[in-house]
Order: sequence, then structure tokens, then C-alpha cells
Amino acid sequence: MYPCSNPELVASISESGGLGIIQPISLTYVYGYDFREGIQYIKSLTSKPIGMNILIENSSSAYLNKMQEWTDIALEEGIMFFISSLGKPDWVVKKVHAKGGKVYHDVTELKWAKIAKDANVDGLICVNSSAGGHAGDLEARQLFLDLKDFSLPLVCAGGVGSKESFDKMLKLGFDAVQMGTRFIASDECKVPLSYKKAIVNANKGDIVYSLNLTGVKVSLINTPYVQKLGLVPNTFILWMLSKASLKHLVRFFYMLRSLIRLKATVKEDKDKFFQAGKVLKVLKV
Ligand SMILES: Cc1cc2nc3c(=O)[nH]c(=O)nc-3n(C[C@H](O)[C@H](O)[C@H](O)COP(=O)(O)O)c2cc1C
Repeated sequence: MYPCSNPELVASISESGGLGIIQPISLTYVYGYDFREGIQYIKSLTSKPIGMNILIENSSSAYLNKMQEWTDIALEEGIMFFISSLGKPDWVVKKVHAKGGKVYHDVTELKWAKIAKDANVDGLICVNSSAGGHAGDLEARQLFLDLKDFSLPLVCAGGVGSKESFDKMLKLGFDAVQMGTRFIASDECKVPLSYKKAIVNANKGDIVYSLNLTGVKVSLINTPYVQKLGLVPNTFILWMLSKASLKHLVRFFYMLRSLIRLKATVKEDKDKFFQAGKVLKVLKV
């Protein structure tokens, strides 16, 4: 989770029997570790397996090179499980399979799942409409029904924050569950208290979706700051986002800007971009 995944949180999830996932930009840019040293620090906190998130963005060769370099380092450090998100995972699968690892890809609907399957991924992270981060449009059940014939392991992502909701998703047919929001309001997560309080105090109705942060729909707690900024970019940017040839350029610019803004949220307790999914209500029970 950018910018929430500090190394101690990743390690404690693995140590507790889950599979903690390193977000490389979070580890390096937000928490200040050299990537290899950060992995080694996490490995000093747990001997259990850990994974890595690879965010695919092909519009900048410098970014692509960095992500590929980090992937190589992760493989050298013995990481064998990768979750790719956003673009086509072809290069990730090639690199990881060559070392005997596994790649699961984030998908929000059938068309992305087909692309991921064609790239030979090992499983699908089915990101539903309750998820934090880049949420999908479909509810968990519908997404499961759409993807169940893919003969790939399916992981439910979105809306799980209790044993009951976890069990419910496994009963529905999912093979596993991926959680995000619930881990932010924990002692192990190093975000400011104001972020944790915002999560604990919010209701599902407080979640809004903004295109104005990363250029892709992001789930946020509605704050006066988010309202002031607006949820939709101006018409020129919207036009650019609608053009296949221009949208990657805009998204790359938005991504860089959002990295800075989101880092400020957790480091300086300044801008109130509290990313969270709809699992919130469960925390109050
Ligand atoms: C603050 C936050 C940041 C996230 N950042 C990422 C990310 O960098 N990469 C990614 O693949 N998913 C990201 N996600 C999505 C999570 O990996 C996960 O799919 C999602 O949180 C599951 O839904 P839940 O929040 O309802 O548990 C993020 C989620 C949150 C809440």
C-alpha cells in the first residue's frame, strides 16, 4: 500500500501467517530505505515469505528500468511472490517465471483478466468495488462469477476486515483474501494517528472516488481538502485521459504528483488524502 506499507507492517503480516507485500516506492521514497537494504531489514524481522508489488507503467523508460531493477533485486533476495498492477504483466511474468516464482495480477473486470491470462500469470487478485486504492466497479460476488471459469486461483481484494467477511469470501469460492485498509489502523502501521482516527471514525458513506489524484479512480475518505480539490479533473485533462495516445502521459504526470502528495499525508500529517476502502464500518463493531 503506497504510502502506508512501512517495512515493520510488511514483516508483521508475514510473521502473523499472512503474506506481507512490499510496495517498492513506499519502501524507498516514503520510508527512505535503499531497496535491497529495505528487503534485508524486513527479512531480519521475519523469516516467513514476503512478496512484492510491481506497478507497471510503460510511459517512462526511466520508471520502467527502475521497476525492472527492483524486481531483479527482489528475486536475488529470494522473493518468489509478486503482485503486478495497472498494465500488461508480460515482462514481470517472464522475469519471475525464469527464477521459479509466481505472479498474481490485479484485475477489476473480465477484459483485464483475459490480458493477464494471456500473459501467463499464476493467479488473479480480484479487486472489487469495496477496495481501498484503485477500486473496481463490480461487487465481489459478480467479479467471482465473471472470473470463476478462468482456472486460475482467485484472490478477493476489497471489503474484508473481519473473520466473518474473510470466511464469507472463501465460502463464495475465492481461494484467498487480500486486505489493505484494515491494516492501516494498526499499531504496526506507521502512518500518523490522524489517518488511523479518520479510518476508525468513517462510515461507508464517507468514501468518495477521485480521478483527480492519480488519473485512475482512487478510493478516499471525504475530507474538506478532498472536496476543495474536486473529484474530477478539468475538461482538458479529461479529454486527454479519453485519448489512448495521451492518457499514459497524463497518468504518469498524475502519478508523480500523487506520490508527493500522498507522502506528505503520512510524513508531514499535512494534506488529508486518506486512502481507504469500504471495510471501515467493520472496525467500529
Ligand atoms: C492506502 C492504500 C494504498 C494502496 N496502494 C496499493 C498499491 O500501491 N498497489 C496495489 O497494487 N494496491 C494498492 N492498494 C490496494 C490493496 O493492495 C488491496 O487490494 C485493497 O486495499 C483491498 O481492499 P481493502 O482496502 O478493502 O482491504 C492500496 C490500498 C490502500 C487502502
